[in-house]
Amino acid sequence: MLIDTHAHLDDRRFDRDRKQIIEQCREEGVLCIINAGVNVSSSIKSINLASRYPFIYAAVGIHPHDARTMDGNSVEILGSLARKDKVVAIGEIGLDYHYDFSPRDRQKAAFRQQLNLARDMKLPVVIHDREAHGDIIKILKEEKASEIGGVMHCFSGSRETARECMDMNFFISFAGPVTFHNARKAREAVAYVPLDRMLLETDCPYLTPVPYRGKRNYPGNVKYVAEEISRIKGISTEELMDAVAANTGKLFGIDFGQ
Ligand code: NI
Repeated sequence: MLIDTHAHLDDRRFDRDRKQIIEQCREEGVLCIINAGVNVSSSIKSINLASRYPFIYAAVGIHPHDARTMDGNSVEILGSLARKDKVVAIGEIGLDYHYDFSPRDRQKAAFRQQLNLARDMKLPVVIHDREAHGDIIKILKEEKASEIGGVMHCFSGSRETARECMDMNFFISFAGPVTFHNARKAREAVAYVPLDRMLLETDCPYLTPVPYRGKRNYPGNVKYVAEEISRIKGISTEELMDAVAANTGKLFGIDFGQ
């Protein structure tokens, strides 16, 4: 039983073989995939995937890279998408100071607008934080995100940042980088975050875990993330996945019939 709480199966790198990859995931025991939108058209594609496959769910949102594309209508459009069947979160949203593809003031404005949308829609948020820990925490506090709830996707922060996020009722999600050889900080965070706050993901097609690093990622590879985390925690993969299933169900309101 595997769960991938953050995938981008709508990415054009899956255009050639999307159907086969999704079928392969099913055969390999992937129980649930949450596909995260990065802009309006990718959010629509996420909803279409969710409507086609029972085990796929959608998040809708505008990624900080695309924040500069947000205009007066964007929040309204996202709001109407958020009401569709099987939309379980607003995301991915946040700040990316590594690439700075959108100006930082536009990123912050888009982030705040979408946090408010999540509050209105009573949906949790999926947060992208790249080299922006300070401003992410500040905005989450100012916008009272503890009342919204959500997940720090592909967590790359310190134990202190994890603590601050968990104090705001957030879950911490780990991806392929925990398997990388230079991932000391990520492994420390894994050791620190309790099981009842942990989620797993691939962020495919990006961040492929060892031993397939460098190849295109897909949701079945969440298995390697789970194996590494179980090893760090000193528990079985089954025990880890039971906790992850419970957490995924709780945060996103998905019923696995357990
Ligand atoms: Ni992502």
